[in-house]
This record gives sequence, C-alpha cells and structure tokens, in this order.
Amino acid sequence: MRRKIVAGNWKMNGSKDLSEKLVGSIRSEAGTLDKGVEVVIIPPAIYIGDVLVQAENALSVGVQNVGRWQSGAYTGEISAGMARDAGCRYVLVGHSERRQIFGETDELVAEKVSLVVSSGLTAIVCVGETLEERESGQAEAVVAAQVRAGLASVPAGKWHDIVVAYEPVWAIGTGKTATSDDAQAMHAAVRKVLKDMGAPSESISLLYGGSVKADNAAALFSEPDIDGGLIGGASLVAKEFMCICRSFPVGAEN
Ligand code: PGA
Repeated sequence: MRRKIVAGNWKMNGSKDLSEKLVGSIRSEAGTLDKGVEVVIIPPAIYIGDVLVQAENALSVGVQNVGRWQSGAYTGEISAGMARDAGCRYVLVGHSERRQIFGETDELVAEKVSLVVSSGLTAIVCVGETLEERESGQAEAVVAAQVRAGLASVPAGKWHDIVVAYEPVWAIGTGKTATSDDAQAMHAAVRKVLKDMGAPSESISLLYGGSVKADNAAALFSEPDIDGGLIGGASLVAKEFMCICRSFPVGAEN
C-alpha cells in the first residue's frame, strides 16, 4: 500500500565520472530488486543530466534543494519547475544541513513544499531532533512541530506527493543510528501527527535517515512504519547502496 523508497543523497559529493560509474552500476542491478522498491538518486544539481542518462528510467532522480521562487533575478538558485523540466521527480526539502547551515526555517520549508507539489514533484520533507533535544526529552515534540509547520500548506489533493524523512540530527554522518525501536516509535508518532492533520497517513511513505548502512538497514526496514531510507555516505558506494536497497523484508513489496 505504501511505496518503499531508498533515496541516495550525495550532498556536495561526486563528479561526472562518479555519476556515470556509480549510477550505471546501480541501474544495471535495479531490475533484480523487489518490484515495489523505488530507488531515487539525488546528486548535486549540476550532475542531474548525467545521472538521468545513466538512470535510463529504471531509477528516479531528485534534487537536493530548490529556491523559494519559480523564476526571476535570483542568481544561483534553481526552481522546482526547472527541476521538473530537467526530469526530476523528487525534491529534498528541509534537510538538517539546510536548516542548520543555511538557516532554513519551518516557514521556508512550508513555502518550498507548496511550490514543489504544485510543480508536480514529490517533496521528501526532512525532520529530526538534535542530540540536546533528545536528551532533554523533547524529541517527539520537536519532530511533531516540524511536521505540522513544514506541511501546513499542503493542499488536500496533494498528500500523495509527500514523503517524510525522519533523520535525527545526531545520527547524520556520525555512524550513530537510532535503534530500530526508537526509530519505529518516532515514525509511528509522525504518522499520528499526519493523521491528526487530516492527511491520508497510512499511505504516506516515511523514510529513516542517519548513518543507514548495509548492516543496519534490514532491522530498520522491518519496522512497520519505516518504509525505506534516506541514505547519505553509503549512497556513494554501489555495493553498499544496493545492499541497503535489498534490505526490505521478503514479501514487503506492494
Ligand atoms: P548519512 O546522511 O547517511 O551520511 O548519515 C543521511 C542524510 O543526511 O540524508
């Protein structure tokens, strides 16, 4: 009933050469994955054309960020409409690096989500607490508030274009992962918030992100409310990434 998704966020890594070799090798094995698993490659925007050529429609492609406008005198920005025009299907919105390094607020996330879904793309909206917030018992409240605010302007008919990625900030790029029990508890809480917002919560895919690797993906993906992963470092190594893509429980495909 829900899409199983593994999305590889390259961040500001990669090259033309990597775009060809890595994506070529992932694509050549994509046909061997369970039918219901969608693989999304999210490279730096400048390599999207190269990645699309290699992906050959067997993989989806996304962009890591878009501006808050559709066009105009905004040097250096790209828009959701351009991402769609270039062949992308997904846009990451509100990644913790965007929030922390570039000062993106929940309000800006909401604006971008609205532009993304009105451009016909799917937004992967990232939420997650810091270590301090977790240690002070605030994790669930913080994440719930990010979900409510970031998704505040999704039009009723556009919820099928929303994916939420729960990424505890302390787990990103650190080698520390939430236990599958903790991750499941947060995913169930996010699903409840979505339900309370009037969204079709049972059909929205929720991804876990933060140091997902080949050796912890199966435990995470076997949890009932975890529908896949948003993968950073491990998405740059074909073998590791493919192993993660194969980590869904048997029979999980829809
Ligand atoms: P990581 O990054 O897998 O390297 O921890 C995840 C992310 O930032 O999306």
